Amino acid sequence: MSDQEKHARGGQAVESTTGSGAPAPSDRNSLTIGPDGPIVLHDVHFLEQMAHFNREKVPERQPHAKGAGAFGVFETSEDVSAYTSAALFQKGASTEMLARFSTVAGEMGSPDTWRDVRGFSLKFYTDEGNYDLVGNNTPIFFVRDPMKFPHFIRSQKRLPDSGLRDNHMQWDFWTNNPESAHQVTYLMGERGLPRSWRNMNGYGSHTYMWINAKGEKFWVKYHFHTQQGMAFFTNEEAATMAGSDADFHRRDLFDAIARGDCPSWILSVQIMPYEDAKTYRINPFDLTKTWPHADYPLVKVGKMTLNRNPENFFAQIEQAAFSPGNTVPGIGLSPDKMLLGRAFAYADAQRNRIGTNFHQLPVNQPKVPVNTYMFDGQMTYHHSGNAPVYAPNSGGRKWADETGAMPESWETDGDMVRSAYTLRSDDDDFGQPSILVREVFNDAQRTALVETVAGSLLGGVREPVLGRAIDYWKSVDADVGRRIEEKVQQHAGRKPAEGMGQA
Ligand code: HEM
Repeated sequence: MSDQEKHARGGQAVESTTGSGAPAPSDRNSLTIGPDGPIVLHDVHFLEQMAHFNREKVPERQPHAKGAGAFGVFETSEDVSAYTSAALFQKGASTEMLARFSTVAGEMGSPDTWRDVRGFSLKFYTDEGNYDLVGNNTPIFFVRDPMKFPHFIRSQKRLPDSGLRDNHMQWDFWTNNPESAHQVTYLMGERGLPRSWRNMNGYGSHTYMWINAKGEKFWVKYHFHTQQGMAFFTNEEAATMAGSDADFHRRDLFDAIARGDCPSWILSVQIMPYEDAKTYRINPFDLTKTWPHADYPLVKVGKMTLNRNPENFFAQIEQAAFSPGNTVPGIGLSPDKMLLGRAFAYADAQRNRIGTNFHQLPVNQPKVPVNTYMFDGQMTYHHSGNAPVYAPNSGGRKWADETGAMPESWETDGDMVRSAYTLRSDDDDFGQPSILVREVFNDAQRTALVETVAGSLLGGVREPVLGRAIDYWKSVDADVGRRIEEKVQQHAGRKPAEGMGQA
């Protein structure tokens, strides 16, 4: 019997019990003095039920609170051993995994079809420990310094006084941080309203390091292409769906897997030779930029298929803990400051959200043996018996002793500074969003972009933010900016079109 099965106690064909396993006296009536009298303090079963109910919620994730997921398998079909020694990416390897998809800004009960970026979190239970890839359905992000992240998320959430979401606050943040233009263009385009999670791509977004068996290093970007085809909702369809089925994306994934229609994604990577990063015309660690495919083409790796629904949403999805800091041999981080900030943030959030020993829960446990010196703490379940609790020790318990250059390291030197990245020749904030709008979007997509942005601006954005937002779009594309300005002038004072109020 697996740990998971041993702990899955609900729904078994035994009489109901107390938490300590004794027969429960009644799940229907509390214990009273006579049928109409007061409840007695020693109705332990009743008190246990009440007290546990008061504690059955944990804090929701700060961002990405609303989501769902499923288990599956990743199969490596290609030989990429020239780039990484990671066991899961060796040809023929088949690795069990978990995926969770989410919206960013909405709370736990918020509609799945509000315009937003979508989270794309993956946990691979590999032979070398858990590898987590925590990305989005867009290849880039709003900011490039982690110091800005809490400010960014707060600006997308709720006002301190009314508790309402506020387009003015969102545009105030974006226009004060012009590096957001690339991601905001994606967000205001079709990607902001995927038809379902099955119909969207996923991206690691950051640049990561791969290391091969010879110790050679490469920089990589992950692309998961949906095999269901990309599909989107219009603003009107999304607004209708938000009202009629707020859980549409959650339901769509669960129902598809339940009927055996298992969604899949092909993983390809862009690979940059290690030395190229030093001279490439775009800073390859800047999370607001993509690498043009003409420079670094896609290299196929394998396929991810989701084929098993959770049996218990809380235990297996709500308590799932993903962290970009969870890497395995053959894979490393990179000098992307956002990624380095994230390497701390997630496990810290999970210690707070789930508990000190969140990594011991079945959904988060690696399938390999664990020998960690993280000791005791609330809800300790796995333990090291009477083995030494310190290292080095003479009691025969192993400890790690790596010194010197690490396989996944990079060289760096200089004074400690608080500074933006050093600019390279193609490092401007509006260049790539301009290309996206002019060369990737077609006429219909540009018109939809104008409608969506104007609708959002008309949803309560005031001066001086409104003027700044028009200038921001003129910097992305003069024509698109002018059309947004005209729409805003035409409709100023009127309510935004339905479904456009939520950026
Ligand atoms: C410095 C920047 C960032 C910080 C500090 C940060 C922090 C966090 C935190 C604290 C959580 C909640 C974790 C939990 O409670 O389990 C979270 C969730 C998430 N973040 Fe970030 N984040 C950052 C940037 C990003 C970026 C750039 C991406 C995508 C490329 C991203 C994707 C996600 C996803 C998908 C989740 C949901 C994880 C899940 O499904 O459980 N975040 N983030």
